[in-house]
Amino acid sequence: MIVGRFEDGTPVTLSRTARSAAPPNNFNYTNDPGTRCPLHGHIRKTNPRGSGGAEPEMAERAHLMVRRGIPFEDVKRAVLPSELPDADTMAAFLEKVAPLLPERGVGLLFMAYNHSIGEQFRFTQQIWANNTNFPTKPVGAHGLDPVIGQGANRPGEQKLPKAWDDATAGTLDTEPFGGFVAMKGGEYFFSPSLTFLLNL
Ligand code: HEM
Repeated sequence: MIVGRFEDGTPVTLSRTARSAAPPNNFNYTNDPGTRCPLHGHIRKTNPRGSGGAEPEMAERAHLMVRRGIPFEDVKRAVLPSELPDADTMAAFLEKVAPLLPERGVGLLFMAYNHSIGEQFRFTQQIWANNTNFPTKPVGAHGLDPVIGQGANRPGEQKLPKAWDDATAGTLDTEPFGGFVAMKGGEYFFSPSLTFLLNL
């Protein structure tokens, strides 16, 4: 729910459980008021697929960018991610899982090609991920993006559904989830187009 997809890529908005089939990418949040995929889920904040409420769909989609996440591991892991034990509660997580996680030296290099940095990367980070009031429909505070959001993360804003697609079940009473990514730095580079290079 924090990402908005199961580990195999299945979107949480489409399915209660992970499916082994190739994960679909052609979907939207039209029939999901946040009872399947939380309104603050990372992929919902960073690609609202027409559900953001602040702009017409085509204008909203113009903020998307070509991305590639490049994982790195500068330290050898004691335990592989697939070998980590399950934990049902935060207390169990802190006791069983947290001591096995690497403290430094692992991460993800986020790379994106942009036509306009201000309208794509920066817009996505500032106006969507860091903005607790986005999506703007329904009106209200839905919390920061739990993966990359920066700013005040107030209790009660990030709402996780207790049951999939059941509005009557209500939401979980959880601590705000944030600070997951420690930003180490970044650079903007100019990349000339092929047409430009061919015309030199
Ligand atoms: C360490 C940092 C990050 C992690 C761990 C992370 C993780 C993920 C994961 C697991 C997905 C789902 C896979 C997919 O749909 O391709 C995803 C999708 C995405 N992320 Fe991130 N991400 C990070 C940083 C960022 C940043 C900085 C941005 C932009 C400001 C961003 C924008 C997106 C977008 C646009 C999608 C695709 C959503 C969709 O098409 O439904 N991510 N990210």
